Amino acid sequence: MRIVYVIGTRPNFVKTAPVIAALQARIPAGRHAIVHTGQHYDRLMSEVFLEQLGVPEPDHMLAVGSGSHAEQTARVIERLEPVLAEERPDLVVVPGDVNSTLAAALTAAKMQIPVAHIESGLRSFDRTMPEELNRIVTDQLADQLYIHSPEASDNLHAEGIPAERIHLVGNTMIDTLVALEQRFRAAGTAARLGMTQGKYALVTLHRPALVDGPLLGETVAQLAALARELPVVFPVHPRTRAMMEAIEAEHPGLLLCEPLGYLDFLSLLADAGAVLTDSGGIQEETTYLGIPCFTLRDNTERPITITAGTNTLLGLDPAAIATIPSALTQRPAQPPEPPPLWDGHAAERIAAIVAG
Ligand code: UD1
Repeated sequence: MRIVYVIGTRPNFVKTAPVIAALQARIPAGRHAIVHTGQHYDRLMSEVFLEQLGVPEPDHMLAVGSGSHAEQTARVIERLEPVLAEERPDLVVVPGDVNSTLAAALTAAKMQIPVAHIESGLRSFDRTMPEELNRIVTDQLADQLYIHSPEASDNLHAEGIPAERIHLVGNTMIDTLVALEQRFRAAGTAARLGMTQGKYALVTLHRPALVDGPLLGETVAQLAALARELPVVFPVHPRTRAMMEAIEAEHPGLLLCEPLGYLDFLSLLADAGAVLTDSGGIQEETTYLGIPCFTLRDNTERPITITAGTNTLLGLDPAAIATIPSALTQRPAQPPEPPPLWDGHAAERIAAIVAG
């Protein structure tokens, strides 16, 4: 069996690493070719992650880099087609919802190569988000749809996808977290940054709706106010950094830093008193770890993190950041158990299905 895995961004690496490992273990005589689209390319956004996750050197680098949605998507399509023609895979595996995901699914489907989609079926029902369009189209094109929460199956049924293509396997991002747990628990990143366990907020922001306009300045002002009560650590995504250049961001208690490697990031996440984010994956990681998460968005494609986890939707409203300290005093003493099948074994279930 010949399998091509197409990855391009930080969260793609985290979701796919355990699937590559599980399929290599199950099908050792198969061809397992990794294609890195190069959507994320900074050392801190790419190489550091791949090293820590133990992902083998990619076999093909497409080096598409940054650009408009059309440019980025088109470059992946154009550069992936000859790679798939050369590799002749029986299956193309794509994770998540980024531009690389959509482009790879479309290229493979047009070449009549079966597509497996990891983290299928999530919906925010907000088509202004580029990720929502990427998810909908990728799921329509996929032959194997691997889901990690039951409502994903309802979403896919509603879009006419037959039940036999849908497999509830659990969460491969949590597989990675479980595999790294000993290492990140020993990392002590908070102390290295001068923070005390449980006594700081960790912040990540990168969505265009929040960081590409005036809301970013309002958010930083609110973070400065929060930091007077609860110190804030904010590793800044490159997209956000570019937008922050025009904003006064030096405030007491607000620590801005470069993007972190995954071990440092998970260490900070696990020891945080609260997390403020607009990321998808972090809503899930905090649910697993039982850390209070506040999501600065109007919606989430991951409702299970609210109903069965520790996530609170604040809305796309920087003023709501002021409610975090009082909300923290009202949390239950014991966080809920992680959702079913978020147990570190999702990738093995995928491998068992792929290997038949
Ligand atoms: C992309 C995904 C988003 C995902 C996020 C995870 C799409 C539409 N968006 O958003 O769903 O949540 O990745 O991080 O696919 N840049 C660098 N170095 C890099 C990468 C990016 O400097 O290594 C800068 C460039 O200025 C680039 C900008 O960040 O233009 C945005 O990068 P891009 O990959 O287009 O989108 P993200 O915001 O990272």
